[in-house]
Amino acid sequence: MTDINVNRGTFDEVMVPVFSPASFVPDRGRGSRVWDTEGRDYVDFAGGIAVTALGHGHPELLKVLHEQGDKLWHIGNGYTNEPVLRLAKRLTDLTFADRAFFANSGAEANEAALKLARRYAIDKFGPEKIEIISFTQSFHGRTFFTVSVGGQPKYAEGFGPQPQGIRHLPYNDLAQAVEAISDKACAVIVEPVQGEGGVLPADPAFLKGLREACDKHGALLIFDEVQTGVGRTGTFYAYMQYGVTPDILTTAKALGNGFPIGAMLTTDAIAQHFKVGVHGTTYGGNPLGASIAEKVVELISDPKLLEGVGERSKAIKAHLERINERFGLFKEIRGRGLLIGAELADAYKDRAKDVLNAAAANGVIMLIAGPNVIRFAPSLIMPMADLDEGFARIEKAVEQVVGAVAVSR
Ligand SMILES: Cc1ncc(COP(=O)(O)O)c(C=O)c1O
Repeated sequence: MTDINVNRGTFDEVMVPVFSPASFVPDRGRGSRVWDTEGRDYVDFAGGIAVTALGHGHPELLKVLHEQGDKLWHIGNGYTNEPVLRLAKRLTDLTFADRAFFANSGAEANEAALKLARRYAIDKFGPEKIEIISFTQSFHGRTFFTVSVGGQPKYAEGFGPQPQGIRHLPYNDLAQAVEAISDKACAVIVEPVQGEGGVLPADPAFLKGLREACDKHGALLIFDEVQTGVGRTGTFYAYMQYGVTPDILTTAKALGNGFPIGAMLTTDAIAQHFKVGVHGTTYGGNPLGASIAEKVVELISDPKLLEGVGERSKAIKAHLERINERFGLFKEIRGRGLLIGAELADAYKDRAKDVLNAAAANGVIMLIAGPNVIRFAPSLIMPMADLDEGFARIEKAVEQVVGAVAVSR
């Protein structure tokens, strides 16, 4: 034990203030339950922002963590290691991809994807083919390239000149995309379901149309599956249920169930444009992270587990519908698998944070996606009893928020 005393107030003293964390401090987790430093318990519908897909403290992941932790954590990229090779084999066997590059986060996986797309196009077609097409409200990470490509200008502004050659188009508007994608485009990057942007699923025709336009103009189609990947939408990757295959796919978040790891997956032909020394990372694919991710992939690719995603998705949507019948809180309930968004009705516009805070006060951890959408991204194996208990608490929280609105009118 240490003699340094800390609490939530310490955050405001010693941390760079880019976050505004909740008033309680989580301390311990098991499955879909979390306890704070005061011993209060919470039902976890956030999953660490779509990360802890196998819940907290999964016994098989703990076993791998301990075994590999005892063997070798890190060795550096002058060497390879067996866990990363097994992980790459599993991911390439499961997907369209032949090759994997490992990083530490979603942003870095996207950074690699965008750099690879540029390099591929410049090598193959010349220096003019650099345009990256992205979509408004999209989110691809916080490096300078990925905030510039992302479709939320507030994250990219105020840092000086941005990378050039990036265009933003409206999401799900195929006509505009078809018109905009030209021979100058090197890549189109899209989330199959926009997560941070409000839990907006792509229309299947939109993704199919993007694939056709990319093929016509020699552009690479990049699917950012950082949030939708690793079982979140009910198939291992969302592209599998859309029936549209990208050229590059990025994945992170649930891949390590909380151990930081990301990956970029692609075909052999495209991967060849990254030669030795062209791109790299110190930690990416280290044996500790890779061994955990390998177990995560093994467990989540089990068809029975993926079936359970659909069952839990239905249960959450049914609870939300029932709450909506009582309170008229939502305008729309949407999403795929266990990435679910509930958009607030006009009477509660921009009050997602109030619902989130009321939920926390009643023992529930949830997410928002913008000021107007409540988001659910729980463990894919959340026990049904926890799910039901969580919604009993959410209902109480909603009663309080709706009551407060009635009083304040
Ligand atoms: C679709 C998508 N891409 C990229 C990222 C960035 O991932 P990271 O925070 O691991 O860098 C996120 C994170 O929310 C995301 O949702």
